Amino acid sequence: MLPVLALEGVDKSFGAVAALRDARLELHAGEAHALVGENGAGKSTLVKILAGVHGPDAGRLLLDGQPVAFGSPADARAAGIAVIYQEPTLFPDLSVAENIFMGRQPLKGLRRIDASAMRERTNELFGRLGVQIDPDRPARGLSIADQQLVEIAKALSFDARVLVMDEPTAALSGVEVERLFAVARALRDDGAAILFISHRFDEVFALCQRVTVMRDGRWIATDEIGNLTVDGVVRTMVGRDISALFPKLETEPGEVRLTVDGLTRHGYFDDVSFTVRGGEIVALAGLVGAGRSEVARAIFGIDRYDAGQVHVDGRRLRPGDPPAAIAAGLALVPEDRRQQGLVMELSIERNATLPRRWALSRLGLLFGGSERRSAADWAKRLQVKAARNTDPVSTLSGGNQQKVVLAKWLSTEPRVLMIDEPTRGIDVGTKSEVHRLLSQLASEGVAVLMVSSELPEVLGMADRVLVMHEGRLVADIPRDQADEESVMFAATGQREAAA
Ligand SMILES: Nc1ncnc2c1ncn2[C@@H]1O[C@H](COP(=O)(O)OP(=O)(O)OP(=O)(O)O)[C@@H](O)[C@H]1O
Ligand SMILES: [Mg+2]
Repeated sequence: MLPVLALEGVDKSFGAVAALRDARLELHAGEAHALVGENGAGKSTLVKILAGVHGPDAGRLLLDGQPVAFGSPADARAAGIAVIYQEPTLFPDLSVAENIFMGRQPLKGLRRIDASAMRERTNELFGRLGVQIDPDRPARGLSIADQQLVEIAKALSFDARVLVMDEPTAALSGVEVERLFAVARALRDDGAAILFISHRFDEVFALCQRVTVMRDGRWIATDEIGNLTVDGVVRTMVGRDISALFPKLETEPGEVRLTVDGLTRHGYFDDVSFTVRGGEIVALAGLVGAGRSEVARAIFGIDRYDAGQVHVDGRRLRPGDPPAAIAAGLALVPEDRRQQGLVMELSIERNATLPRRWALSRLGLLFGGSERRSAADWAKRLQVKAARNTDPVSTLSGGNQQKVVLAKWLSTEPRVLMIDEPTRGIDVGTKSEVHRLLSQLASEGVAVLMVSSELPEVLGMADRVLVMHEGRLVADIPRDQADEESVMFAATGQREAAA
C-alpha cells in the first residue's frame, strides 16, 4: 500500500547542529504511528518538515507517492496535514475561538466574520473532546492543559488526512488523554494517518500500531507494535539498558524547613496546612486542576493569598515577594517553563543563572566566573544537548529547555526546592537522572516538595504523599501506605484518608 505521506533521506541542519541525518518515515492511511527518541533526537524537527515550517536540506517528501515541496505551513495544511505542535502557539490577545479559526473564520455577507458561527463550531469541537472552555475568553491566562486542548481542537477543525501530534499529552490528565485518544482512534478508523510523539510509552502502546525510533537525527528502526516491548523500544532508543525510575535513597528527615499554615486563596485553594522537613521528599498529588501548582506559586510569592502563613526555617516569609523567597532559600521550578521559566532569546548560560543574579544582585554581589561554572555544571549533569552554552534557549529541543529551567533553579542551591512536574517532557534516560538528583539533594538536607501527576514517580520518590482534591488537602499518606489505590481514591474525592 502506498503511504499517504513519506519522508526519504531527509537532512536538516541548523548552523553546526545536524538535527536530521537521513531521516525516514512512512505514514499509512488508517494507522497510528509513534515516533520516539531521546530529547534532541530530531522528532520535532521532523514534524516541522512535515508541516512546512522548515524545508529539508536534502531528501524528499512524498504525498500519495508524489514528491511535494511545502513552501509554508499553509501549503502543508492545504495538503491535509494538521499539526499539534509541542509548544502551544496561541495568540494571547485573541479569543479561544479566534485562535482556532485563525485566518479562516466563517464569513457572513460583506465578508464580515460570523462570530456566532465560529462560537458554535468551537463548542462542537470542544464537545467532541469533552472540554469546557469559553470560546469567547482570551487565550491569555489559560492553563497549559487548556492551551493544549485548544491546539488540539484547532487541529481537529481541519478535515485532516494526516494528524501530527507532538507530545500532545504532556500537560493533560488521564481523562483528557482518554478523550483525545478516542477522537484520534475515530479519525484513524475513518482512514486518517496519525503521527504520535510521546515520552510516555504506555500511551504509545495504547494508541499506535507501528513505532519508528530515532536517535541523533537518524532513523533507527520501524516495527509493528506486536513485535515490541517497552523495554525493547527504550533500549533501541538510547542504545543501552536503563530504568526510568532511580531507586530512592533512604534518608533520616531532619528539622522542619517549610511550614505552610492555613493557606487560602479564594477560588483556588482553601486552608492548606503541611510541613516539609529537610531530607524529605513530599509529593503533592491530585488531579489536574486540584490546586497543587497554585499552592506552590502562592508559597513562592508569584501569586498572593488571602489568608495563612508560610515559614522557611522558622522565619515568616513575606507574601508576594519571590526575591525574598529566593533569599530565604526557596526555589520553585514552575510547571509552565516556557512562560514562567525561560527567557527564550537569552542564552542557555544566562537563563541558567538568572534567579541567582536576581538574588545576588539584591545583596549587591555578582560572581561572573563562578556563576558560569555552576550553570555549566548543572547543564552537564542534566545532559542538556546543546551546541554551545551561549546559544539562545529557543534553539533547544523541548526536553532540553526543561533541563535548562531545572539547571537554573538548582544552581541557586535552595534549602527548600519546590518542583512542579519534574520530568514532564523529559526522556526516559534523563528521567532517572532527575530522580537521582532529587534524591541526592534530599540526602544533603534539602526539603523537596514535588508536584507530580505521574503516579509511578510519586510512589517511587516520595517519603509522604499529600493529596489535594478541589482545592483542599484531603490526605497525608506515609510512604509505606501509599499505593495507586490510596492516592487515586483521595485524589478523586472518594475517601478522605486520615490526615
Ligand atoms: N531553530 C533551531 N536552531 C538551532 N538548533 C535547533 C533548532 N531547532 C532544533 N534544533 C536542534 O536540533 C536538535 C533536534 O531538536 P528537536 O527539537 O527536533 O528534538 P526532539 O526530538 O523533538 O526532542 P524533545 O524530546 O526534547 O522534544 C536539537 O539538538 C536542537 O537543539
Ligand atoms: Mg520535541
